[in-house]
Amino acid sequence: MTDTSALQQAFGKCSALLQQYRAYWQLVPFAWQQLPWHNPALEQKLLSLPEHALAAIDQSPALQQQHFAEHFAGLGQLEQYLSAAAAELPATELKPVPFWLANGIGGRKLAQIAAFAKQLPPSQLPLLEWCAGKGHLGRLLAWQFNRSVTSIEWQQQLCVDGSALATQFHLPQRFVHADVLTAAGSAVLAPQQQVLALHACGQLHIQLLQQAVAAGCQQLNVVPCCYHLIADEHYQPLSLLGRQHDLVLSQHDLKLAVQGQVTAGARVAKLRHTEVQWRLAYQALRADVTGDSSYRPLSSVAKHWFSGEFADFARWAAGQHQLSLPKAPDWQGYLARGTEHAALVRRIELVRHLFRRPLELWLVLDRALYLEQQGYQVQLNAFCDYQVTPRNLLIQATRQAVPA
Ligand SMILES: C[S@@+](CC[C@H](N)C(=O)[O-])C[C@H]1O[C@@H](n2cnc3c(N)ncnc32)[C@H](O)[C@@H]1O
Repeated sequence: MTDTSALQQAFGKCSALLQQYRAYWQLVPFAWQQLPWHNPALEQKLLSLPEHALAAIDQSPALQQQHFAEHFAGLGQLEQYLSAAAAELPATELKPVPFWLANGIGGRKLAQIAAFAKQLPPSQLPLLEWCAGKGHLGRLLAWQFNRSVTSIEWQQQLCVDGSALATQFHLPQRFVHADVLTAAGSAVLAPQQQVLALHACGQLHIQLLQQAVAAGCQQLNVVPCCYHLIADEHYQPLSLLGRQHDLVLSQHDLKLAVQGQVTAGARVAKLRHTEVQWRLAYQALRADVTGDSSYRPLSSVAKHWFSGEFADFARWAAGQHQLSLPKAPDWQGYLARGTEHAALVRRIELVRHLFRRPLELWLVLDRALYLEQQGYQVQLNAFCDYQVTPRNLLIQATRQAVPA
């Protein structure tokens, strides 16, 4: 069992690390024309790294350690604090899932569901699946444990499809078509319930935690994702400790926590490369046209832009900034400047990304501490391998009996 102090200790370490190295992660890499820190040893390390090594280091916690542990004391120890806070849960035995039941569920999602199901504490409570999509998780659990499941989802078609599958396989799963951010959404929560949320985005799982506490739900099993999708401009910590050690996180800062992608395919990686080069090339063009070299963000665009022509993208970007471009800019010259600036930005990002896991741990621990504060017994685990999903932190909370 996790005791309060283990979660608090892990949170304290995370907070201290993020505070100490704030200048290395709480920044906008595109806005810098040189390395943002005066740190000659780190600068030398970054400039000595060949281009082809950057992506591999970025994707591998072991390589990150190997290259950067000496520059950032304490970075490598965070996962140990998490294990200290995690309980050894006996894995639940599962029946093998027949092919007809798994039909239509992607391989990775199926692996996530199996790993999630294995970690569920034994219970006879009815299950509630929050932000269910087609209710794949709920459907498999209804079959696996023969327990009734209510799945709440706001996209009507997903409810229709999910209901049809449950009916087809005679499973005790029903759908509620509602917005979980409204009173109709919270109305499905009840004390005698085991509530599940697999990859419910920021505000959606925050709403769940707050409303489940208010409703007194017995058990919660929550895997958060998309921490940056929140209602406020800045993150409002949920726990008392979180408020005391508020990092004042903007939505841009929060996005860092989800930037650890499982290696993208070569085509996606190439498009991303081109996107960064073109955005920075346009930035140089804009600076020359306006005389203002400060960074001005552009909205995100569909990836197909980056298999077209830079000139078309630059004209679109100028339109976004209500800017007239000269008739014939030196497109090749700007592309070369974009390439050079991109090499710098990749190195700033490499350092910034060292802090994505600590930031994610800080955010998840804030949620765990909030539940603990509300009288729940809380455990935090990595429920599956990072390759199965990088959003692999599972919060399990059980409401403790109120003393007579
Ligand atoms: C990332 S998906 C996760 C789906 C599923 N739990 C899974 O792991 O595959 C999030 C789901 O939340 C639903 N959703 C988004 N906003 C919602 C809201 N306000 N109320 C209810 N469901 C919502 C989306 O339609 C989507 O199906």
